[in-house]
Amino acid sequence: MAESFRDPQRGGSLIVAWQIKAKTILIVGGGAVAASRVFNALDADACVTVVAPELCPELQYRFSSAQITWKDRKFVDSDLEKTDMVLTAISDVQESRRIADLCKQHRIPVNAADINDLCDFWFMSTHRDHSVQVAVSTNSKAPRLANRIRRQIASALPRGTGLAVEQIGRLRKRIREADPKPENSKRRMTWLTQLCDYWPIEQLAKLDADNIDTLLDAYVQNHDPQSVKIAQDTTTSLSSSGMPSPVMQTPTTDDHLSDPTENKKGRLVLVGAGVGDPELLTVRAHKELKQADIVLADKLIPEPVLDIIDCEIYTARKFPGAASEAQEDLYRRGLEELAKGRRVVRLKQGDPFVYGRGGEEILFFRKHGYEPDVVPGLTSAINGPGLCGIPVTHRGVADQVLVLSGANRNGDLPVVPPFVATRTLVILMAVKRLERVMELLREQEFPDDLPVAIVERAGCTDQRTVRGTLSTIAGIVERVGHNAPGLIVAGHAVNILSDAAIQDRYLDPSTLGLHSTE
Ligand SMILES: C[S@@+](CC[C@H](N)C(=O)[O-])C[C@H]1O[C@@H](n2cnc3c(N)ncnc32)[C@H](O)[C@@H]1O
Repeated sequence: MAESFRDPQRGGSLIVAWQIKAKTILIVGGGAVAASRVFNALDADACVTVVAPELCPELQYRFSSAQITWKDRKFVDSDLEKTDMVLTAISDVQESRRIADLCKQHRIPVNAADINDLCDFWFMSTHRDHSVQVAVSTNSKAPRLANRIRRQIASALPRGTGLAVEQIGRLRKRIREADPKPENSKRRMTWLTQLCDYWPIEQLAKLDADNIDTLLDAYVQNHDPQSVKIAQDTTTSLSSSGMPSPVMQTPTTDDHLSDPTENKKGRLVLVGAGVGDPELLTVRAHKELKQADIVLADKLIPEPVLDIIDCEIYTARKFPGAASEAQEDLYRRGLEELAKGRRVVRLKQGDPFVYGRGGEEILFFRKHGYEPDVVPGLTSAINGPGLCGIPVTHRGVADQVLVLSGANRNGDLPVVPPFVATRTLVILMAVKRLERVMELLREQEFPDDLPVAIVERAGCTDQRTVRGTLSTIAGIVERVGHNAPGLIVAGHAVNILSDAAIQDRYLDPSTLGLHSTE
């Protein structure tokens, strides 16, 4: 009878793990995309050269810490000499195409960011845990969905998967050294397969040097791995069937058996996610997100920031109308993860201490024995207007800023102090109650023609500024609609950079009775 073989599905990519160690990757471009390519290349131990007239902060850091070579100019054709791979990440599509054509002439594999037809290969959404790399490709059809799929796969992996691989790698090497004969390769493989297929991954992760000696002994003595009793602080081992079963063990201390790099207690970092643009994360925030075991995220963290996270992301479950229950849900999960000794990042919009309940969270975790670290973020209150061309102070126009919340405890409206002409008022969480808030301002003698702006989704690709005055803004927003999150800015600084007539008027601060500030 004829044998039947699988039919190829076709249309996929050849998925391989490219050994690029010590080879040269040339990256053309100095922005955020280039930075993410550089990170991938360094993760694979490649020698990285970046060619770009300017570098974003992350690449400046990598250059100053000698991780990359930098040619501070535009690409020239001779850059391709002695180059094993080229990645372009520039906005000039024509130049990208030209570089890709040159690479093809020289048979150098090339990837041009966002120009699929020029790419010899694509980057995949990857998860990394020690030597374990999980990569998801959608063959460039849905890269964003690939991130989500990768996150889901990563979160389903047992804890310690990467360590388990390291330990098996060590044991495999020891067995080969002890029994190098090629004719025994099948025996070596069969013996190790019993460990790899049946032992719980968490248990493999906890193998220490003594355990590896014991296992090696069992191999040399020709004992089944199932018969080996390993003393660990886990309650499972193997029965003679090879499946996990409870076992009596010699008690040992955690210190003896745990991974020396693992903290006894977990670590919590409160990280400010900034306003929404991942390029505006601090270098430290980026590092914490990359090193986290789990990220507990506020609901409104924009997708591009979430996209840079490789580990599991947990967002508070929804409790309609009950924000405090969502907060408790995050506290509960945080404590669970910390008890497992994990690095937990609590990711908050903007800055954790500006209407972010950051202080409360510190007090809560401190009460439970954990002292969180804090990584500040760009706050929407100051940087939101700034990103939309509104300086919250401006010499001769505004010498003070007052930040208020439009939804205080129990949903109360803010207490607005009397009008000061040189003050910029920023009100968060208030656009939904815009009309009522404007009334409150009027009650405090704020003039009807005072410039007022609504700053929406600052730092996101769809940021927008809606401008009017105290008397017109509510009507304008009703007409044009509102995209949350947004904030209100009121004061003479609102139009100072956008309206030439106003600039003239304010060139002489005396016309407003304003005093100048240095
Ligand atoms: C609970 S407060 C958190 C503020 C945050 N901790 C910060 O420092 O930006 C949420 C409010 O911040 C404002 N907000 C947050 N992100 C924003 C953005 N990208 N653009 C405009 N306003 C934003 C909105 O008023 C929103 O209702």
